[in-house]
Amino acid sequence: MVQLSQNAFYNLGLLHYECNQMDKVSYLKQQIDKALLGGGAKRIESQHAKGKLTARERITLLLDEGSFEEVGMLVTHRCRDFDMDKETYLGDGVVTGYGRIHGRLVYVFSQDFTVFGGSLSETHAEKICKIMDLAMKNGAPIIGLNDSGGARIQEGVVSLGGYADIFHRNVKASGVIPQISAIMGPCAGGAVYSPAITDFILMVEKTSYMFVTGPNVVKTVTHENVTSEELGGADTHASKSGVTHFACANEIDCIMHIRKLLSYMPQNCEETAPVYAWEAGNELRPELNTIIPENPNQPYDMKEIIQQLVDEDSFLEVHKDYAENIIVGFARLAGRSIGIVANQPASMAGVLDINSSKKGARFTRFCDAFNIPLLVLVDVPGFLPGTDQEWNGIIVNGAKLLYALSEATVPKITVITRKAYGGAYDVMNSKHIGADMNYAWPTAEIAVMGAKGAAEIIFKKQISEAEDKNAKLKEKEQEYADKFANPYGAASRGFIDEVILPEVTRQKLIRAFEMLENKVEERPRRKHGNIPL
Ligand code: HXC
Repeated sequence: MVQLSQNAFYNLGLLHYECNQMDKVSYLKQQIDKALLGGGAKRIESQHAKGKLTARERITLLLDEGSFEEVGMLVTHRCRDFDMDKETYLGDGVVTGYGRIHGRLVYVFSQDFTVFGGSLSETHAEKICKIMDLAMKNGAPIIGLNDSGGARIQEGVVSLGGYADIFHRNVKASGVIPQISAIMGPCAGGAVYSPAITDFILMVEKTSYMFVTGPNVVKTVTHENVTSEELGGADTHASKSGVTHFACANEIDCIMHIRKLLSYMPQNCEETAPVYAWEAGNELRPELNTIIPENPNQPYDMKEIIQQLVDEDSFLEVHKDYAENIIVGFARLAGRSIGIVANQPASMAGVLDINSSKKGARFTRFCDAFNIPLLVLVDVPGFLPGTDQEWNGIIVNGAKLLYALSEATVPKITVITRKAYGGAYDVMNSKHIGADMNYAWPTAEIAVMGAKGAAEIIFKKQISEAEDKNAKLKEKEQEYADKFANPYGAASRGFIDEVILPEVTRQKLIRAFEMLENKVEERPRRKHGNIPL
């Protein structure tokens, strides 16, 4: 018989015949052992030396113990160019399969950097697509653990085609099943666009980066000197670009974040999020009665209010370091998942600008797509003025938040803690754009603008003619404040359903969300809306 190498057997699809030469069971065991080693012990060592885990170690940490079932372990690439037929690895640089997180089904792919740098070949892409298709057909989240040198250079256009096949599935799955991307190594070139389409990106500090063009190209084109970390590291994308939702201290932290994040979500768009055990107790929060400062221009931390309102330790902030003038995140109220969108007076007075509007809108749309009720906490002085904002499109970008909140049909509740001025009042989940319950604290100021600005405009003549202009301005400011810097005008029109004592807010929210549990709201039939992008 002609002697063929083991690789040649795989390549010719003759694995079956080799089995005739030896015990079939031990042959399979041998193949499994080989697959488990990925690119080999030396490359695994080098992966560890970089402070990174292997693809399989990551999956083991991510999933409930012993729950992983692998799919496609014996897949090999089909490339014959550049002597590639002499180098094949079982699994071809990506481990794919399914398992459980908190007992719930998830699908996962984990790129193996020890095999051709985790680069994406035709078959590597096919494996990812197969698992994505299964996730969509079975209505369960898909998690991608990315660690890849990008397109498999030896394969050329088939690799690019493979990427596009994945992108297309990311788009089809959007809003159907939750999609989560962890970046645990390089992610460059067009490869960044799959994570970009998914719902949440997590990056690991110091060992991961994402960019469309790397430092060398940047230097050639724009003459900027920048490191990979500065250009596209976790901190950069967490604070400057907002590309990543979470910057995690290390890989374990990243994986634990994924597990936690999933606990707030349903399996798919037809279901609701899991309800956690909760025992009713004293829901009054008297600390809230004194949390708003006397001086309306003094900042306070909205996160302290959030902590008082939600179940203990249940708040998971998303996009923590980006556009800090708005807070978004998941929490639980009486054991049930909610999404929170809140102005943050401690950052830029809580003003709405381009980045905060985009941040709030994207989060709102995720919650709406996956049936997670929304709580909107309002203390907003308006939209940020200036040429920078206007020239960069605050008009269309601010409209994103308006559109997203208006479009959302999940239960929507608003609490105005202090300022709700101008267009920002409308945008921040006002009654007029479909909020179900609107509460205001007695400290609320619901008006076209702040009292001083308003007095300067409408009493301009009286002020300029007055002997003591300052005294006149103060008097008119007070007059305006007395009339409008309160919640009662809005309450008398029903724009506010109830003015409440801050201390009863948690109790009110629990009851109101419970009351809205079976909410159904239809929208006119259409292909899809056209959010101002
Ligand atoms: C094939 C690759 C590869 C690739 C790395 N390897 N990238 N093999 N295709 N894209 C292999 C290396 O040959 C090496 O093999 C092993 O992976 C590890 O790579 P190293 O360079 O030794 O590792 P490191 O020093 O950590 O550097 C990692 C890296 C670098 C920064 C990712 O490998 C790199 O720059 N690779 C090329 C990246 C790139 O230009 N990709 C194409 C981008 S364009 P051995 O056998 O030594 O272990 C693109 C377009 C996508 O992706 C378009 C989608 C629409």
